[in-house]
Amino acid sequence: MEQSFISRSAEETLCIGQKIGSLLTCLNPIIGLFGDLGAGKTTLLKGIIHGAAGIDFQDICSPTFNYLNIYQGKFSSVYHFDLYRLLDATQFASAGFDDFFYLNGLCCLEWAEKIDPLLPKKTIRIHMTHLHETQRRIVVMGLHA
Ligand SMILES: Nc1ncnc2c1ncn2[C@@H]1O[C@H](COP(=O)(O)OP(=O)(O)OP(=O)(O)O)[C@@H](O)[C@H]1O
Ligand SMILES: [Mg+2]
Repeated sequence: MEQSFISRSAEETLCIGQKIGSLLTCLNPIIGLFGDLGAGKTTLLKGIIHGAAGIDFQDICSPTFNYLNIYQGKFSSVYHFDLYRLLDATQFASAGFDDFFYLNGLCCLEWAEKIDPLLPKKTIRIHMTHLHETQRRIVVMGLHA
């Protein structure tokens, strides 16, 4: 199943994210975000993580100097990866990061294209495209709601 949205502002992207987050019903969901620099991946994830785990927007930020931030949510942990600086899938696997796919909690990955072949089948894939100024297309695949 594929769902598609057009967002016209960062606030709208946060709202769309919250809606997606509140629809995550599967156990230990994995979310892969695809899209160029500035496409809005972190903004959407703030909404998703807030909607799914109740974490404040201001406590959610992209891990800049490492690959992973961990937040403690209401009911579960949240693992937030940003793979921009990652070389390739081999580096991800040799760091043991794929273990996080099998932990209890919500696992989110920005720049999922870097490890596409490693993503488990159940991964919810979200593609973001910068259309125009503050306009973004958001295409969600694999969210069964
Ligand atoms: N409709 C929109 N949706 C999301 N972000 C938007 C939108 N319009 C403008 N922006 C702005 O785009 C900027 C980049 O957003 P964000 O950091 O979420 O992108 P990103 O894909 O995570 O970037 P990076 O690849 O650098 O991690 C932010 O300043 C955000 O406010
Ligand atoms: Mg980002």
